[in-house]
Amino acid sequence: MSHDGRIALTRDGVALSRLVFGAWRLLDGGVRPDADQVARLIGTAVDLGLTSFDHADIYGNYEVEAAFGAGLSRWNGKREEIELISKCDIMLASANRPQNRLKHYDTSAAHINASVERSLGNLGTDYLDLLLLHRPDPLMDADETAAALAGLVKAGKARAVGVSNFTPSQFDLLASRLPFALATNQIEMSVLKTSALTDGSLDHEQRLAYAPMIWSPLGGGSLFTGKESREARVRAALAAVAAEVGAGDLAAVAIAWLLRHPARLVPVLGSMKPERLAAMVKAQEIKLDRQQWFAILEASEGRPVA
Ligand SMILES: NC(=O)c1ccc[n+]([C@@H]2O[C@H](COP(=O)([O-])OP(=O)(O)OC[C@H]3O[C@@H](n4cnc5c(N)ncnc54)[C@H](OP(=O)(O)O)[C@@H]3O)[C@@H](O)[C@H]2O)c1
Repeated sequence: MSHDGRIALTRDGVALSRLVFGAWRLLDGGVRPDADQVARLIGTAVDLGLTSFDHADIYGNYEVEAAFGAGLSRWNGKREEIELISKCDIMLASANRPQNRLKHYDTSAAHINASVERSLGNLGTDYLDLLLLHRPDPLMDADETAAALAGLVKAGKARAVGVSNFTPSQFDLLASRLPFALATNQIEMSVLKTSALTDGSLDHEQRLAYAPMIWSPLGGGSLFTGKESREARVRAALAAVAAEVGAGDLAAVAIAWLLRHPARLVPVLGSMKPERLAAMVKAQEIKLDRQQWFAILEASEGRPVA
């Protein structure tokens, strides 16, 4: 981590903000935001220190990137002040992709190159700061995929490349064919989804010293809306810890729980509400001690550690 809290992903200077803005739900509200509204949201995020924006070609049924790009063109900041992340390889069965008869994955060079060109055009930029393979593809030819990714870096279309939802062994296979290190693995984790602690993912990240990005860090909102006993237990534990540390917001404590891990987890925040984003960035000021961290884990697992 550098002194300003940014997370270095590569040796040659690609870095992300400590917390990332996730754009998946940009078009999920009842009314589609216009370009000026998106520009204001981008400005709010940047003012809060969320300079990195996480996209995928498929978000919003293949429509989020273009809506975000329209907003970006109205935003009064400079391209170099932000980082744009996108992903490819999921092929949705969608009216926007009539050639896809069913949902599948595609890590062929042809698809990766075509998808990146579309993402660049939609976002209105000539480079991505980070390109991720969205899901492991059982038909991935590691040599072909690695050559395509390396070609995009060489051409300056992606400053860095990484993966998402890969097991350590899938990561190692692709990494073995690349002339540079994979920058990250974006995985699911939250106070409600703790499997990365024990399935080898975070061990792999610390061993290779890359910073994992974390998706659905609030369980996609189920932390607040969920009616299961696990969610209720975790909310009670978060409230108890919030009272101890003087935090006003349970979501901020849930994010602080992720930030406490030594593998330098980079949570991708999914809220589209400026006031919720503002509350969550305060997670960076919350320091949980070991017993507070374990109290939240215990509530999630429903039992003390062995
Ligand atoms: N790589 C992958 O496979 C993958 C998969 C999924 C997501 N992602 C990335 O991860 C990002 C984050 O995922 P996510 O959206 O699931 O993250 P999340 O932060 O766990 O969930 C966001 C959802 O929770 C709601 N929420 C937030 N605070 C709340 C509160 N206090 N009370 C009630 N609801 C609340 C938000 O609603 P409001 O907008 O109303 O606040 C939003 O619907 C995505 O944008 C995307 O970039 C990646």
